[in-house]
Amino acid sequence: MQTATERLAPDAAGIDRAAALLRQGALVAFPTETVYGLGADARQGTAVAEIFAAKGRPQFNPLIVHVADLDAARRLGDFDADALALANAFWPGPLTLVVPMRAGSGLSELVTAGLRTVGIRVPAGTVVEPLLRTFGGPVAAPSANLSGKVSPTTADHVLEGLGGGIAAVLDGGRTEVGVESTIVGCFDHPRLLRPGGLPTESIEAALGRPLAHAPAGKTPNAPGQLASHYAPDAPIRLNVTAPRPGERLLGFGPTVKDADLNLSPSGDLVEAASNLFAYLRRMDGRGPIAVSPIPERGLGRAINDRLARAAAPRP
Ligand code: TXA
Ligand code: MG
Repeated sequence: MQTATERLAPDAAGIDRAAALLRQGALVAFPTETVYGLGADARQGTAVAEIFAAKGRPQFNPLIVHVADLDAARRLGDFDADALALANAFWPGPLTLVVPMRAGSGLSELVTAGLRTVGIRVPAGTVVEPLLRTFGGPVAAPSANLSGKVSPTTADHVLEGLGGGIAAVLDGGRTEVGVESTIVGCFDHPRLLRPGGLPTESIEAALGRPLAHAPAGKTPNAPGQLASHYAPDAPIRLNVTAPRPGERLLGFGPTVKDADLNLSPSGDLVEAASNLFAYLRRMDGRGPIAVSPIPERGLGRAINDRLARAAAPRP
């Protein structure tokens, strides 16, 4: 259903309203110093799934989690000495750190697209900083544009692409930096995963040594190709209406009988997306998995993309 998107002023009332909408599981776009983000409560799987639906993303890329400060970040991920040095030097600011996820982080598996690492940043800005403090939890947010379009740097850009499909946009005017954050992986030695708003020279100066670069052909824009990307150990067969003996069925929709787990008994693709990674994990290690057909529309395309990767031959 399309409803009017609220345009919120960047004052205390607008920020309170935005935080209340996020708590309800609604999508709210907000300005950071880099670009506008499309935010959802990172702990609510359905809200996170709505991000992918609103953007029309055909794939589940991992999302950056935005928090108010380093303390909040350390409740979600494990920071080694390099990660701490970079966070202390550049947060709040246009730097995202990818670190190992902490057990019990409470994040929806959809946020990390099933990875064991999480991208976290403390953004700077007169709107996003009070928003994150008022909301008080982790906010998952990709750039607030339709998939394949350029990132928005004004509230009008956001509304041109997503107006009607999201609850609200906090209008904080033009963003300062205009390109996305620089992403550095700190799960082994610090590694540049995406160039962005913070120059790599500044990062290397703070580290006191050069950054490693992402392995060729393994860009974070294709997280499904990252070696660390989660794929179940169990063999997976797709588009299955009649499971073979010994196979356990990951079902979808109301007509499926005898499913071990059903991604959405009512046939809701948003619900199915929010359950996908958690259910694959739960079914893993107990024999071959068969998966019901998933319709190739809406979030179904992203679900099928991810399932195809999970079912592809392993290296
Ligand atoms: O400036 C920005 O970074 C903006 C604002 C809104 O914060 N956000 C942004 O998000 O650019 P997005 O979704 O357009 O880009 C997120 C990218 C993913 O595509 C992926 O490349 C990387 O972040 N990423 C996130 N988590 C990751 C992880 N655990 N491992 C590897 N890459 C990750
Ligand atoms: Mg983007």
